[in-house]
Amino acid sequence: MENQDTASLVRSKTDIVDVIGKRIPLIARGKNYFGICPFHDDDNPSLCVSREKQIYTCFSCHATGNVFTFIMNYEHKDFYDALKYLADEVGVEVKGRKKKTTTNTKYAKYYSCYEFCEGYFQNNLHTKVGKLARDYLKSRNLDDKVIKEFKIGLSLENDNDLTNLLTKKGYTLADLNSWGLSVNNYDIYKDRIMFPLFDITGSPVGFSGRIYKDIDQNKYLNTRETVVFKKGLLLYNYHKAQEECRKTHSIIIMEGFMDVIRAWTIGIKNTVALMGTALTTDQIKLIKRLSNQVILCLDGDSPGQKAALLNGELMLKEKIEVKVVSIPDNDDPDSYILKHGKESFERLLENALLFSDYKMNNLKRNTNFKSIEEKTEYINEVLKEISLLDDEIRIEIMLKKLAKDAEIGYNTLEKRFMKLKTVNKEQVIKMQNKPIIRKNKYQKAIEQLIYSMITNGENIQLVEKERLIFPDEKIRLLINEINYYYRKYGNINIADFYTYVSDKKELVEILNTILACDYQDEIKEKELQEYFDVIRENSMNLEIKRLQKKIEEEADPIEQAKISERIRKLRIGEL
Ligand code: UTP
Ligand code: MN
Repeated sequence: MENQDTASLVRSKTDIVDVIGKRIPLIARGKNYFGICPFHDDDNPSLCVSREKQIYTCFSCHATGNVFTFIMNYEHKDFYDALKYLADEVGVEVKGRKKKTTTNTKYAKYYSCYEFCEGYFQNNLHTKVGKLARDYLKSRNLDDKVIKEFKIGLSLENDNDLTNLLTKKGYTLADLNSWGLSVNNYDIYKDRIMFPLFDITGSPVGFSGRIYKDIDQNKYLNTRETVVFKKGLLLYNYHKAQEECRKTHSIIIMEGFMDVIRAWTIGIKNTVALMGTALTTDQIKLIKRLSNQVILCLDGDSPGQKAALLNGELMLKEKIEVKVVSIPDNDDPDSYILKHGKESFERLLENALLFSDYKMNNLKRNTNFKSIEEKTEYINEVLKEISLLDDEIRIEIMLKKLAKDAEIGYNTLEKRFMKLKTVNKEQVIKMQNKPIIRKNKYQKAIEQLIYSMITNGENIQLVEKERLIFPDEKIRLLINEINYYYRKYGNINIADFYTYVSDKKELVEILNTILACDYQDEIKEKELQEYFDVIRENSMNLEIKRLQKKIEEEADPIEQAKISERIRKLRIGEL
């Protein structure tokens, strides 16, 4: 069975009202069900779920989709996993496996080469020359099991051992240089402990090599960026952490891979590492795919704290719930766990501070309260933070704390706070009152027409006969897809068509705007005729406009007259 068929079967066996209702309380009102939308911050029930159409739409944030998109967004799964999950619930078998990038893609040659190197490095570690490296790993408390689990290896001291081996296998020097395995035709990694790096699906995309002797070189040497290795697009250990993140509904972010590996050895497996950079927007998206709750567990030193502030802020903007663990005494998670053990580290995690608290503690620590200027700035900064909060009890507690810390009257603070809060509110209201896009009657006619097509296949045939002209290319594409779908499956419904176009982003966008409009369901042929007329009228107007422009550009009066005549005939319907 094809994916679309399986998806349709699974969808027809599930009821979107049950699936969503299991997760959010829904109240029946008329034909539809309403609940509080989980995709934006709200207290009003603006999410509308239709049993009849098997779709949901939020009237505030316009989140729209079918049962698959709901599970994808709510449970942070990709399409395949959402399909598999729902299929399991209704007892449908999903054939085929998740597409893995390792096989049969244009990047396969990279993956197979890095995979080969991985085995080669791992092998080196267990030979005679690997003794010192093995001792080093032992001294860092990494046993054979974890060495194997993270595929840790060793590059050799020789100048071009690996380069030779790979050229013998048929790789060209040019490739090896550009793939970051060689430089100037020699091995780039010499005598380093090798940590393979993987992309988010677990395909090998490069290495990071660590020195292990007392030498004056960069601690870690990373593979250069290639088409398969973009530092900003991956997080160390992402592919292995996925399952645990979904289970625990949280993801722990650390700074280095030694930290992640150490946490793994004590059974904390929902961790990823930043690899020494600030989070990119792509990485934040990857994080959100796994969980909305992040625990930042960066190094205890001052760069670590700075990184926590910076990254926390970035994630907060994306509506991620951020907590921060402060590791004492300049330790990193790795050294802390080694010194104090599992239980102690787990306690640190449990006591993680909400990001706003962390930020305020940090402000306090860095303020000289003897300086009036610094103190005033501190109070203003903290008030600004508090004014962003929603929880009234928390607000009062924090205001009281601030009054105490800054030794200032509570009433004075409250007054200032109320002022700030009103400013914020006005901003929020401004943001919510997004200009309503007024649709002209032509747009409305097209949208209603498309809506009538995806709710009733017979209309598709009626529309086809009309040979209408749709000036907008995306609309043409969408209508083509509708026609194709109907011809192929012999019927159509919104929920399944939704899955069908789901990977064509611009079409989904149009579909979403149409579904958010709540167009009339049953339309009569007479109304359909009216839409046809409006659409024709619009095409005619566009054509007239085009001709009028042509007249302006035409120098020859005879030609001008010809075009005018054409326009006249168009107007009276003779053309
Ligand atoms: P750390 O110095 O905290 O590394 O750098 P670590 O993981 O604790 O390693 P150990 O304990 O010293 O062995 C954090 C991350 O920054 C990147 C690496 O990804 C590292 O894991 N980094 C660091 C580099 O890329 N190059 C460097 O020279 C240093
Ligand atoms: Mn470390």
